[in-house]
Amino acid sequence: MSRAEKVVLAYSGGVDTSVCIPYLKEEWGVKEVITLAADLGQGDELGPIKEKALKAGAAVSLVADATETFVKDYAFPAIQANTLYENRYPLSTALARPLIAKLLVEAAVEYGADAVAHGCTGKGNDQVRFDVSIMALNPKLKVLAPAREWGFSREDAIAYGERFGIPSPVKKSSPYSIDRNLLGRSIEAGILEDPMTEPPEEIYVMTKAIADTPDEPEYVDIGFERGIPTSLNGNTLDPVTLISQLNQLVGNHGIGRVDMMENRLVGIKSREIYEAPALLVLINAHRDLESLTLTADVTQYKRGIEQTYSQVVYQGLWYSPLKEALDAFIQKTQERVSGAVRVKLFKGNATIVGRKSDNSLYTPDLATYTSEDQFDHKAAEGFIYIWGLGTRIWSQKTSV
Ligand code: ARG
Repeated sequence: MSRAEKVVLAYSGGVDTSVCIPYLKEEWGVKEVITLAADLGQGDELGPIKEKALKAGAAVSLVADATETFVKDYAFPAIQANTLYENRYPLSTALARPLIAKLLVEAAVEYGADAVAHGCTGKGNDQVRFDVSIMALNPKLKVLAPAREWGFSREDAIAYGERFGIPSPVKKSSPYSIDRNLLGRSIEAGILEDPMTEPPEEIYVMTKAIADTPDEPEYVDIGFERGIPTSLNGNTLDPVTLISQLNQLVGNHGIGRVDMMENRLVGIKSREIYEAPALLVLINAHRDLESLTLTADVTQYKRGIEQTYSQVVYQGLWYSPLKEALDAFIQKTQERVSGAVRVKLFKGNATIVGRKSDNSLYTPDLATYTSEDQFDHKAAEGFIYIWGLGTRIWSQKTSV
C-alpha cells in the first residue's frame, strides 16, 4: 500500500537522505519525490547536491537559500532569550530544524504534496523537532521517516543505494555524525561516544587549537539594538555578515567550543561536542548588556524564562503557544537593550571588559565610594529593620 502520493523530502546530499529517494518510491509506493536542500550557511556547494538528488530519482530538486531568515528569525530571537540548553548548548542545530520544517511545508503546499519526509533516525532530537514543527504548521500533512523504520546499517544503506545508482561515498566517510550551519557545528559518535576520551583536535573546524591562536589579545565591540546584534567595532553589518565575521574573529582565538553530556528528549544521555563561536560570544555579551539596562526584577525573572525558552527550543516546540507567549515576554524586555559590549579575545577566552548604553540604569553617584556619593546611608538602617523583621520574629519564636 502506498504511504503517500507525492512527498517533499528534506535533503542534505548525504548517503542516508539520498537512499530515502528510491526507498520512498520502491518500498513505500510514493509516486513522486521532491527534494529540498536548505542553505543555512553551512558552506557546502548546493549546485552538485541539486544534481545528486535528480540522479537518485527525485522528480524535482529544490534548493532554498534561507541563511538570512535563519539568522534573523531564529538565531536573533534565541540571542535575545540567551538560550543555552542545560546552561551550555546554544542550540545551533536545534534552531535550524523548525526553519527547515517550514520550508518543507511551504514546498508541500506549492507542489501539492500529501506528505513530507526526513532522514532522521529514531534516537535523536531532530526527528522530534521536524515532526512536531510540521504538524504544528500543517496538521494535514503526513510525515514519513524511512530511516526510523528501515533498519539499515550504514553498509546496508550504501548497498541499497548502489542498486539505484547512488554512488557510495568516495572518500572514507567521517567516523563522526556532524551537523553544520552558519551558527555552528554539532559533532557526535565515533570515539566521542566514550565520555572520558578527549576530542581529537581534527574534529574542530571553526575554532583554532589554543596552541595556534594569536599571542596578543584582540578586542571587539559588539553593538546591539533592542537585543539584536547590529555592529562590530562600530561598523553596522547585515545579520549574515555579522555572524560570519564574528565566527572568524572569535574562532581564531580558539573560543566557542563546548564538550558536554546532554540529556536528549528521548531519554538517553549523549556526549556532544559543539563549536558555535559567534553565537556563544553574542549570548554572553547580550546577557551583560541586559544587566546594565534592565531592572533587577526583570533581569532575574527573565533568567528563569530563558531556561524554559531553551528547553522549548530544544524539545521541538518552536511553533507552540508556549513559545509564542514566551516571545511576547522576551520582546517586551528587549525594548531598551541597546548599547555596546567590549569583549577581549585571548587564548580560548572571551572576556567581557566593558559595556555602555544610553539606556544604562547604572547610577555612578549612587554606586561610587568617593566623595561624590549621593546614597543616603542612614536610610539603610530603617530598610534593614523592616527587611529583617520576619527573620527576627522567627528567631525569637524558635530560639530557646
Ligand atoms: N544534540 C544536538 C541537538 O539535539 C545536536 C544534534 C546533531 N544532529 C546530528 N544529526 N548530528 O540539537
